Amino acid sequence: MNATRRLFLASAGAALALPGLARAQDRTLAIYSSRHYDTDRELYDGFTRLSGVRIRLIEANVDQLLERIRAEGANSPADVLVTVDAGRLARAQESGVLAPIRSATLASRIPAHLRDPEGHWCGFSMRARVVMYDRAQGLPAGVARYEDLAKPELRGMVSTRSSSNIYSIGWTASVLAANGPEATEGWARGIAANLSRPPQGGDTDQIRAVAAGQGRLAISNTYYLGLLHRSARAEDREIASRMAVLFPNQGDRGTHVNISGAGVVRTAPNRDAAQAFLEYLSSAPAQAIFAEGNMEYPVVADAAVHPFLRGLGEFRQDPLNAARMAALSPEALRIMQRANWR
Ligand SMILES: [Fe+2]
Repeated sequence: MNATRRLFLASAGAALALPGLARAQDRTLAIYSSRHYDTDRELYDGFTRLSGVRIRLIEANVDQLLERIRAEGANSPADVLVTVDAGRLARAQESGVLAPIRSATLASRIPAHLRDPEGHWCGFSMRARVVMYDRAQGLPAGVARYEDLAKPELRGMVSTRSSSNIYSIGWTASVLAANGPEATEGWARGIAANLSRPPQGGDTDQIRAVAAGQGRLAISNTYYLGLLHRSARAEDREIASRMAVLFPNQGDRGTHVNISGAGVVRTAPNRDAAQAFLEYLSSAPAQAIFAEGNMEYPVVADAAVHPFLRGLGEFRQDPLNAARMAALSPEALRIMQRANWR
């Protein structure tokens, strides 16, 4: 028995004791995933070694996957849907594609704010939406909270992506949950007024802009800095080494976080194996692999965190439930549009 297997059996072995997996070697679990990291393959192989269940992987973006599951109807082979962002998981739930599951393993191992209270989906890795700045330039005075980013002193300093992007929407939904609609609209106007350029590109583009001297503060998910850090290109690694991270709102509600997650498909032909797979994902070794695929944080306390992320330091997370954040997202988008955040 290798170390991974021992660790897994110690932490989540109950998953494999399910009677439904008795003839597991006959089974294939179909995973529909919008993640596409080589390390995820290692993760799937680990499940096959432990359970005997083979994995068939279908990869596409989440809208294509949802459309495919709908088109396949009751005959869909899909067992598990894996995707990133609570907003997308909530969209899958709203379209009726996911089944609620009850799992004592998941309930005890995954923090409550990172899973759907009704059990339709569960987060397995986490990213924080932070403020990045060039160490040489330093952090402008008076910036410690998301709310500070709207201050008039920061004109021309903020680099962020468009309001239509799901990360911007989730982030603004977290501000809405904390401060209410009126204050959030004022805040969004302040952000729009402080932009260093019209919103364009992804989070990495905001980091690159600030590193190139366009704006001082890049709004980005933590893993994009991790991906620059482990890039094969020396110029990317140089940018990563120059950027510092501020985890906002450490003195109050905490930094906004979001998840990569998964749920069991409502029409899953192998529901017991699908649930066993999700429970496997909550084991410490699987967590470390799952998270590292995209340089994210594991969500269980005993999983190893990548040294780069450890180096960023510990931080307090906003405990807003991911499902609540997703529910507030449509209103958050309307507020951003009213505020002329393009
Ligand atoms: Fe991303």
